[in-house]
Amino acid sequence: MKIVGISSSPRGQNSNTLKLLEAALDGAVKTGAKIESIDIAKMKIKYCTACNSCHETGVCIIKDDYNVVLEKLLAADGIILSSPNYITNITAQLKTMFDRSPRVIHEQLFDGKYGISLTTAGSGEVDFVLGIMDNFMIHCGGNTIGGVGYSMSQGPSAMEAAIEKSREMGKDLVKAIKENKEYPEQEAMHEAWRARFKYVIFANKEHWVHNCDYWMEKGWMKE
Ligand SMILES: Cc1cc2nc3c(=O)[nH]c(=O)nc-3n(C[C@H](O)[C@H](O)[C@H](O)COP(=O)(O)O)c2cc1C
Repeated sequence: MKIVGISSSPRGQNSNTLKLLEAALDGAVKTGAKIESIDIAKMKIKYCTACNSCHETGVCIIKDDYNVVLEKLLAADGIILSSPNYITNITAQLKTMFDRSPRVIHEQLFDGKYGISLTTAGSGEVDFVLGIMDNFMIHCGGNTIGGVGYSMSQGPSAMEAAIEKSREMGKDLVKAIKENKEYPEQEAMHEAWRARFKYVIFANKEHWVHNCDYWMEKGWMKE
């Protein structure tokens, strides 16, 4: 079983959010998973140019580190997304990675995968930022098992608690994968999304050949 953790703070080893990620990955290792930590802030990932090539051919024409990250995410059973709160949002680094992933959403390529979201903030909102990462996971067809957020305004003891909570959640992630845990609310969201998005795929069937073939193969679209 493989768990991949994504960190997206530009502060490298000094990152508070990395501490949560490292604890979650440690929890996963202790429960028998193989892990990999990827610092996307150190990678070269360009903006999506909305060329639609990925929908047409299944291949992104931009040749950079995104393709390396995607390959690792697709091979993972569990994905841990992490970002500090930057202006009540995720970092630009993580958003750039999300924006490069429309095929992952169109083809629901995280179907069967489980995720965790992690964030730290100075004094502000953590749930909103966790929600952005959860939303990405669910939109890609995966299920989120939960998230951990820490705000510096809560004081250092709360950071210790958040680290421990992240470690436990790393263990829970492995358990959820092993048990193929069901999240009926999220499954309903996947189904509702597919019911809506079918019309978008259908409307673009002349162009989005790869997406369309994939939907036919999956039996999500009949004609
Ligand atoms: C550009 C920038 C924007 C930030 N915006 C917010 C914010 O809107 N709300 C907040 O509570 N903290 C904000 N912070 C503080 C960080 O979220 C906080 O210090 C966090 O723990 C940093 O995580 P890191 O060490 O993993 O980079 C911001 C920090 C930076 C550098």
